[in-house]
Amino acid sequence: MVKLQIRIRSLLLILAMLIMLVLMNFSMVFNQLEFGLIFSRNLMILSLMTLYGYYFFLFHRRIPFNQTIFLILISTSLWTASVFLGETSFLFMPILVVVMLIAINIDQQLAIITHLLGVAIIGIVLDLPLLFYLFYLPIGVFSALVIVAVKERRKIVYVAGLTSVIGVLFYILVVFMMGLELNMNEPILVFANIGLTILLVIGSMPLWEVIFQFVTPTKLLELISEDHKLLQRLMEEAPGTYHHSKMVANLAQRATKAVGGDAALTKVGALYHDVGKLKDPEYFIENQNGGPNPHDQIAAESSAQIIIEHVAYGVKLAKDHKLPKVVVELIKEHHGTSLVGYFYHKANQYEDGIVYGEAAFRYPGPKPSTKESAIIMLADCVEAYVRSLDEEDRHLERIKEIIKEISNQKFMEDQLDACPLRMKELPLIAEAFIQVYNGMYHERVKYPTNR
Ligand SMILES: [Fe+2]
Ligand SMILES: [Fe+2]
Repeated sequence: MVKLQIRIRSLLLILAMLIMLVLMNFSMVFNQLEFGLIFSRNLMILSLMTLYGYYFFLFHRRIPFNQTIFLILISTSLWTASVFLGETSFLFMPILVVVMLIAINIDQQLAIITHLLGVAIIGIVLDLPLLFYLFYLPIGVFSALVIVAVKERRKIVYVAGLTSVIGVLFYILVVFMMGLELNMNEPILVFANIGLTILLVIGSMPLWEVIFQFVTPTKLLELISEDHKLLQRLMEEAPGTYHHSKMVANLAQRATKAVGGDAALTKVGALYHDVGKLKDPEYFIENQNGGPNPHDQIAAESSAQIIIEHVAYGVKLAKDHKLPKVVVELIKEHHGTSLVGYFYHKANQYEDGIVYGEAAFRYPGPKPSTKESAIIMLADCVEAYVRSLDEEDRHLERIKEIIKEISNQKFMEDQLDACPLRMKELPLIAEAFIQVYNGMYHERVKYPTNR
């Protein structure tokens, strides 16, 4: 399934690049270039595209489908437009829109490499001077690095102004460095181009949010807020689960920062991962408060069903509350295809002649497909285990052992084999978890005794 998706993505990427190249060829034909020149330029562009394709396959083949389509559509359409708009002046081109949109919505590194390809293709097709490359390459890299700062809206004007001024100064520097004459319109064009680009990028964010289901930072902040209806319900109807989720969110957020990933998204995913427990909160140990355990009254198979059901019900609740698709996926994947071991063994311990298979005691999955999802799975298990310890066992040494045991166990059970998390990243995650517990013991924050 994953392989098929990667193939479809690669095919779409190749197809879009080829269509773009055909369109760009019209520009070369209109300019009445010789056949030999057109042929060699095409060959050069195809080589660069192949190199880019290889880079994409090596480092980004697992980016979500919606991001891949966005990358393809934005880059090929705006580069083609740049070729036709650039006939007058290369300062009219919307090349920087591409690099900024990819940096802010997908990944900064991918944005920079994609920008290198875009500048090279446009430069080759239009046979642009060195000034074009010397200006657009560094300013594109700079844009990719600073644009993420506008995720905080109050910084928009500051970043737009600063980037435009730096763009202008840089352009003047390149012109002087090359011994060219400066046309006074050009700095104004550079300023307007960069300023408008940033405003367009930010202004269009809600549009991408709707079309491509991207999650904006504002949306994440809204979901982290304790005023959200679902979190409010969790707090009132399943307080144990609420505290568990908050602790999982702390652990997971810290670990995501340690290995690189979207820490805010992980936090949101962790806060909502167990909302499905709202269906039968009292069947989950963290909400029993030492009171009666309703599982004592029912068969182990039914117990497992109730436990497993919290994932599907969580997905339903999340969809009903219009949570972003990525968050729904995190909820769906947080137990992967793990076995509800306790009830599986309980079912098989009676000598009633019936041997229960694992099928009815396994979560349906899928397994975590992203780093964020895998981290939530690990944080969830660690938190639940530590919570179940007796007070005297809850010390750092024991917690360290638990973290190691759980990481190894999830790894051995192949729960982490569908995500890009590497084996060598597990110790970093463990270290981040330990730091959180270390902080807790330091501040003498005690666990609520609601086991
Ligand atoms: Fe869960
Ligand atoms: Fe959980």
